[in-house]
Amino acid sequence: MHKIAVFASGSGSNFEAIVTACEKHQIDAEVVLMVCDKPQAKVVERAANHHVPAFAFSPKDYPSKADFEREIVTRLQEAGVELICLAGYMRIVGDTLLEAYGGRIINIHPALLPSFPGAHGIRDAFEYGVKVFGVTIHQVDATLDGGKIIAQRGFEYYGRDIDELEQKIHAVEHILYVETINKLLK
Ligand code: GRF
Repeated sequence: MHKIAVFASGSGSNFEAIVTACEKHQIDAEVVLMVCDKPQAKVVERAANHHVPAFAFSPKDYPSKADFEREIVTRLQEAGVELICLAGYMRIVGDTLLEAYGGRIINIHPALLPSFPGAHGIRDAFEYGVKVFGVTIHQVDATLDGGKIIAQRGFEYYGRDIDELEQKIHAVEHILYVETINKLLK
């Protein structure tokens, strides 16, 4: 059984989808660590509900990004993590993590990259008037949403309801992330 970590900063619906798929043996892996840079985030509660060990920290408690990333790397190594899945982790991954886990970190983005990178991919695409929306899973490097693309799934949406669109995008994310992790671990 493979060992994976999920990093998140917010609600954690993707974390929930991944951990549930592991519990149901749809993925041959166990989430051995959830890393969160916002101790009050809902994802911390979700991790506790699923008995997933969590490292929730406040970046301001560390002198620098390298310092908190060193701590993350130690915990990842202690837990034997092979693959890191970023799922709404709202930080650029720094050199310390990349040096330790480069090539083994993936991210999910709620738009068809290279279009609409950044923190507001869904809103930016919607406001642009896009009609084909989608989700991208990509390798993580030092750029913002810029690493090599691993998987994408798109769909047409002509509606005008951004909340409905968001729900559709999240539904695609949850399926595509589980499928992609499965493929990568095979
Ligand atoms: C997702 O839309 C993901 O693509 C983006 O951040 C969001 C996280 O949502 N990177 P959640 O916390 O998994 O619900």
